[in-house]
Amino acid sequence: MKKQNKIIIAIDGQSSCGKSTLAKQLSKKLGYAYVDSGAMYRAVTLYFLQNKISLTDQNAIELALKNLSISFVNKEGVNTTLLNGEEVETEIRKMYVSEMVSPVAAISTVRRAMVWQQQQMGKAKGIVMDGRDIGTVVFPTAELKLFVTADIETRTNRRYLELKEKGMTLTKADVSKNLQDRDHIDSTRADSPLKQAEDAILIDNSNLTREEQLAMVVALAKERIENS
Ligand code: DC
Repeated sequence: MKKQNKIIIAIDGQSSCGKSTLAKQLSKKLGYAYVDSGAMYRAVTLYFLQNKISLTDQNAIELALKNLSISFVNKEGVNTTLLNGEEVETEIRKMYVSEMVSPVAAISTVRRAMVWQQQQMGKAKGIVMDGRDIGTVVFPTAELKLFVTADIETRTNRRYLELKEKGMTLTKADVSKNLQDRDHIDSTRADSPLKQAEDAILIDNSNLTREEQLAMVVALAKERIENS
């Protein structure tokens, strides 16, 4: 039997469009590694908040980036983010981090450090990574690029239910505002803004079930693996 080549799958899209769920399901199905690049920007943001790093102090930012390390562990099948060895998965999803993450992710020095680490993780291929600039900047030669979208009501409802399940008390209006604010900053920043790569396949999942979306993407991935 011919040994199958491994590919890189880049999934980009707006906040709460369902890309992480899709990326997780797909990585499981293919036996690939999964990396949530947004969690890395969230962990940097948490570190900056904890250490009161000013977003205009370039020296402090550079020093902070040298002093922080981000890694992932698989805990009972769940991908968990570590910041300097400490589990921060729950903390980085909280609203006070969500409110600061886009300004932090717009800083070029931060992006350079994260992109470098992401590219190291993709060296052996066999990886699904989701984010905002994965198909455009991190892996411009990825064999499969997807750009996921859904309307704002769908995205708000999904995020609201997700946060409610985690016990966080927020209104739908708060959630919607945070999503729209982040989308605006993420897609208008000067350094690697969120945009669809020319060769990315657009998936609007507003009216698709998770199963339908997964089946579609698994078929695409298998075709790309076959032809790689
Ligand atoms: O995927 P997420 O919503 O957890 O990402 C949090 C923020 O991180 C998002 O608002 C923008 C930023 N981000 C980015 O700039 N580039 C990435 N590759 C991933 C996330």
